[in-house]
Amino acid sequence: MNFSDPSNPSHVAIIMDGNGRWAKQRLLNRIKGHEKGAETVRTIIECCREIGISILTLYAFSTENWQRPKVEVAALMTLLVNFLKSEQKKLLDNNIRLNAIGQIERLPKNVRNALHKTMALTEKNNGMLLNLALSYGARAEIVRMVKDVAIKVREGIIDPDSITDDIISDSLYTKGMPDPDLLIRTSGEMRISNFLLWQIAYTEIYITDTLWPDFSKDEFVQILKNYQHRKRRFGKV
Ligand code: IPE
Ligand code: IPE
Ligand code: MG
Repeated sequence: MNFSDPSNPSHVAIIMDGNGRWAKQRLLNRIKGHEKGAETVRTIIECCREIGISILTLYAFSTENWQRPKVEVAALMTLLVNFLKSEQKKLLDNNIRLNAIGQIERLPKNVRNALHKTMALTEKNNGMLLNLALSYGARAEIVRMVKDVAIKVREGIIDPDSITDDIISDSLYTKGMPDPDLLIRTSGEMRISNFLLWQIAYTEIYITDTLWPDFSKDEFVQILKNYQHRKRRFGKV
């Protein structure tokens, strides 16, 4: 792997799926799968930073995931707080900025506090952007964008005839970020599960059967190599 290779993706997005199945295979509680999955998160962040990926967007909790059993949601929130607290120093040492996308206001107060604290602490870092999708759903994001644009139209700030792709992109949580070049989903499901619908219009997709807790740096590097051989045409010849 040539680490300075310009043919590497700038923005990688990952649907981290399969924690529950990993635990089930071992006759463990699903929570154990999430704990092991959190270790993979650490490994992949480190790997992306080393390789020089500019933006890593991780789908950690969806708007639909609120419908899981209360104990599982609570365990995921606890894991998140622990992750934020334990990673703060590493994020600072490695010049990584943390950002969150999604309905952050729905998260429990201790999670919001830890999140805001880590975001403020790492605000000036520019080595890599770590974007956590939390209580994130693309449809909710689009509804929010439409409301935002509609208000601006009503107030006369935007003329409906001059609404462009850029105006829409700038009204999403991912404002100012380039679209993902590569989307990886672990655990083999062939679906998007309400992730970044607008932003992935031309993203390259890679689905692996590996369960997220088993996902490794080696496999990630293999996927980047596969990406480098893709011919991105964007509708042209
Ligand atoms: C992904 O693993 C983590 C979250 C969605 C929070 P799952 O918990 O969905 O694992 P599976 O799909 O049941 O194996
Ligand atoms: C997608 O995984 C959400 C996250 C990885 C956070 P899910 O396990 O929730 O998706 P479905 O239910 O299989 O579509
Ligand atoms: Mg799942």
